[in-house]
Amino acid sequence: MTTMYIFRGPVIVFILALFSLLSTTSQHYPTCSEAFSKMKEDGHFEHCMKLPTLGAEFAWNIQEDHARQVNRIDVFFGTRQHAEIGWLAWGVNPTNEPEMVGTRAIIGIRMPNDTLAIDTYNVTAASKLGCGLQPSKIDFFKNMKINYSDTNHYFTISMTLYLPQSDYNISSLNHVWQVGYQSIGMEPQIHPTSLQNVDSAETINLKTRVSEGVGQHRHHLRKMLALRLKPKRTDKYRKFWNSYHHCLGYALLAAISVDIFLGIGILKPLDHAWKWSYFGVLGILGVIFLLFEIYSWCKFLNQKEKNNQKSEVSEQQRQNK
Ligand code: HEM
Ligand SMILES: *[C@@H]1O[C@H](CO)[C@@H](O)[C@H](O)[C@H]1NC(C)=O
Ligand SMILES: *[C@@H]1O[C@H](CO)[C@@H](O)[C@H](O)[C@H]1NC(C)=O
Ligand SMILES: *[C@@H]1O[C@H](CO)[C@@H](O)[C@H](O)[C@H]1NC(C)=O
Ligand SMILES: *[C@@H]1O[C@H](CO)[C@@H](O)[C@H](O)[C@H]1NC(C)=O
Repeated sequence: MTTMYIFRGPVIVFILALFSLLSTTSQHYPTCSEAFSKMKEDGHFEHCMKLPTLGAEFAWNIQEDHARQVNRIDVFFGTRQHAEIGWLAWGVNPTNEPEMVGTRAIIGIRMPNDTLAIDTYNVTAASKLGCGLQPSKIDFFKNMKINYSDTNHYFTISMTLYLPQSDYNISSLNHVWQVGYQSIGMEPQIHPTSLQNVDSAETINLKTRVSEGVGQHRHHLRKMLALRLKPKRTDKYRKFWNSYHHCLGYALLAAISVDIFLGIGILKPLDHAWKWSYFGVLGILGVIFLLFEIYSWCKFLNQKEKNNQKSEVSEQQRQNK
């Protein structure tokens, strides 16, 4: 049992590290699912995309009004990942960070008796501490609607925002989304704090659909793990980054294998078939791994030789001239 705890920690750290390596700073997300697109009432929306977490999808239209210094944005937002969702929130954050505190949100609530309600909320540091989140009037949200479909379990909200250009830059807008399972009346209760729930905020360019920056959590992770952002190809750190990347990958694979093995041990299956099948699977994977590794080394060495030959040839040509 003690060995389990020795291995669990590193495994989790490696998995988190892998996630943070996979996450890039600038992303184009895929377009919406067909089911979501169909649900948009009258709605032709110019832009629609899947968000990176919580199965959320997000559609919007922009109308810029430079004379009145206001951007009108029609939003259709929803998810169908969890049938038991009790509340669904989407909002914008005028502070410098895409994060929970400071968010001006619309929250749709599905009460235990299936009544649907929707209102605006000012999410503060006190809300995060659990002091209760009551509706408060936020003037720029209009035309709010909520819908829950019993047939396909889509939970959606829609609204029109009249965002003052002085406070909200739609070329780098912090938007935040969240789902929770419980509410008391119009007061949503705390949401889960899994990775998906804390990575549900980003800075988006509504005009180009490019999302920049990552969830607060991943920022911390990068700092926690002291990772340098992936350097440019020409950067001299790139070499180190590459080998770091590889080492981390190998370590991750090894750690996962050991972890599964320990898991089987903890479950104490009656016969040893599990253990031996697992060894078999590992063995096969090992052989495949070895073959790929040999292949890529051969390729690497070949390439190097070619490059050497090339530079020798050009050197000779130069001398001939
Ligand atoms: C109902 C009351 C709420 C409570 C008590 C609450 C509590 C919390 C707590 C304790 C965390 C930190 C979790 C961690 O880092 O492990 C957190 C994170 C987060 N919450 Fe909430 N939350 C509430 C409502 C909301 C709402 C309505 C939204 C969306 C509009 C939201 C969005 C987020 C996001 C995006 C994070 C991760 C980034 C950050 O920490 O700012 N939360 N919440
Ligand atoms: C809610 O969504 C369902 C399924 O798309 C649709 O049939 C229904 O008309 C919608 N209700 C409202 C009030 O928009
Ligand atoms: C459902 O519950 C809410 C709050 O508890 C209440 O305001 C509402 O009238 C109820 N709706 C029905 C149809 O019973
Ligand atoms: C929301 O809360 C902030 C402080 O976090 C406050 O400055 C702002 O006036 C509040 N807005 C509304 C509409 O209550
Ligand atoms: C809005 O954000 C974009 C992109 O970050 C930036 O180029 C532009 O200068 C910003 N506009 C204002 C008024 O701050």
